[in-house]
Amino acid sequence: MRRILLIGIGTGDPAFVTMQAVTAINAADAFFVFDKGDDKAELIAVRQAILDRYATRKDVSLIAIGNPPRETNARYLEGVDAWHEARAVLLREAFHRHVPADGCGAFLVWGDPAIYDSTLRVVTRALAGMDDAPEIEIVPGISSIQILAARHRIGLNDIGEPILVTTGRQLREQGMPAPGVSVVVMLDGELACRELLGQGLTIYWGAALGGPDERLIAGALDDVIGDIVEARAKLRKQYGWVMDTYLLRRPAEPKT
Ligand SMILES: C[S@@+](CC[C@H](N)C(=O)[O-])C[C@H]1O[C@@H](n2cnc3c(N)ncnc32)[C@H](O)[C@@H]1O
Repeated sequence: MRRILLIGIGTGDPAFVTMQAVTAINAADAFFVFDKGDDKAELIAVRQAILDRYATRKDVSLIAIGNPPRETNARYLEGVDAWHEARAVLLREAFHRHVPADGCGAFLVWGDPAIYDSTLRVVTRALAGMDDAPEIEIVPGISSIQILAARHRIGLNDIGEPILVTTGRQLREQGMPAPGVSVVVMLDGELACRELLGQGLTIYWGAALGGPDERLIAGALDDVIGDIVEARAKLRKQYGWVMDTYLLRRPAEPKT
């Protein structure tokens, strides 16, 4: 039976690739990657470097699947849905073309496949339309969230308190949750925490985690926000884009 592997690869440093991921890499006949345009060529280069380092077969290569245009006028969820469907169609075609019967296709997924990544959704959708649908297997990877915590040498949660993992968009719309809840913010192009000054929050921020230009800043949000804005702008200028993640926390109120 044909298989499709979603292999978490960490966020840039090939040393984040686990032994299980290496085994999976060496089981694959073809690697697919969704092409996200020139400005993200770096992300394809990282995957190629991982294959160069770990794939023992030298006849495998990365097959780029085109990036269908995203409907920007549609409502957010409808736009995402149409975009996933267009990608699913392209993937189905590529899978039929490049993966032999009883063969194995694979995606090298940034960080961990379970965290804000659409690969599983798109693959599931692509397979739904196939008669001979391959089986999906997932290899967990090291997420930017774990790297953020490790680099800052912090636990993600306050003692006995929950962790909320969310997006910049949600943080802007909903503000901070109850005291004690630690909030991990991803996918935040606009640095939504800038709207949360004056609340006594602490921030642990990390950008380009795992890469050669990794940046870390921590402290009282009101004090360090200027440094974060500046560091972010520098990285954006250098790469044309920036990936950052941060943890926000307001100390828990004493329990009575
Ligand atoms: C599409 S999500 C993918 C998350 C990924 N699956 C993971 O486990 O880290 C992209 C977001 O992850 C975070 N991210 C990914 N790579 C990062 C990195 N190297 N440094 C900091 N944040 C990163 C950023 O918040 C970015 O907007």
